[in-house]
Amino acid sequence: MELVLKTLIIVALIFFSALFVFSLVIFAVHHRTGGALFVPTPRPMLAALMKAVDFSRFRDIRDLGCGDGRFISAVEKTYGSTVTGYEINPIAFVVTWLRIRVLGLGSSVRYADFWNRDLSGADCIYCYLFPDVLERLSEKLDQELRDGTRVISANFPLPGWREEGILRAQDTIFDDPIYVYCKGSHT
Ligand SMILES: C[S@@+](CC[C@H](N)C(=O)[O-])C[C@H]1O[C@@H](n2cnc3c(N)ncnc32)[C@H](O)[C@@H]1O
Repeated sequence: MELVLKTLIIVALIFFSALFVFSLVIFAVHHRTGGALFVPTPRPMLAALMKAVDFSRFRDIRDLGCGDGRFISAVEKTYGSTVTGYEINPIAFVVTWLRIRVLGLGSSVRYADFWNRDLSGADCIYCYLFPDVLERLSEKLDQELRDGTRVISANFPLPGWREEGILRAQDTIFDDPIYVYCKGSHT
């Protein structure tokens, strides 16, 4: 009986300690990201993007909020071009970092807030961000990007920008639009 009770106490202690650590991690991640969610670009959409856009012609590709790094690895594996990703979610950052190391890619990921980054050197920007930040992003891209820079926004359009084209995966489930813009001919 005493052994059963001791075992139960130890199991309960381990459970509540794990729950406490887990809550701390979630709190820290939420605090750091300001609630920005990590939702990966669905594979069919990524495949459609790789098919439609020739990323080998870009020299400086940035992924604003790179999540688990799937866009980064798709571009480098398909076209050999490297990508710089920015990510503020520490868990997503580590996943991308590991993906780059394990696959031996030349791309890089920065644990950084892209709002604080100068994007003027980029000739291609990829993002899958939610509408609440896209107005501000449109302004930042308007101010910083050179004419001719391509901007690709998954799922949601950039307010005030006129797209060059809209891609679709033609998938029964994942058929959300991917907006392609060219700075300079976007207004
Ligand atoms: C919808 S997910 C898209 C992830 C990835 N780009 C993809 O397509 O699979 C948006 C990501 O942007 C990151 N993010 C949001 N705001 C950010 C910021 N200011 N700086 C860096 N990363 C940010 C979030 O943490 C999240 O991982």
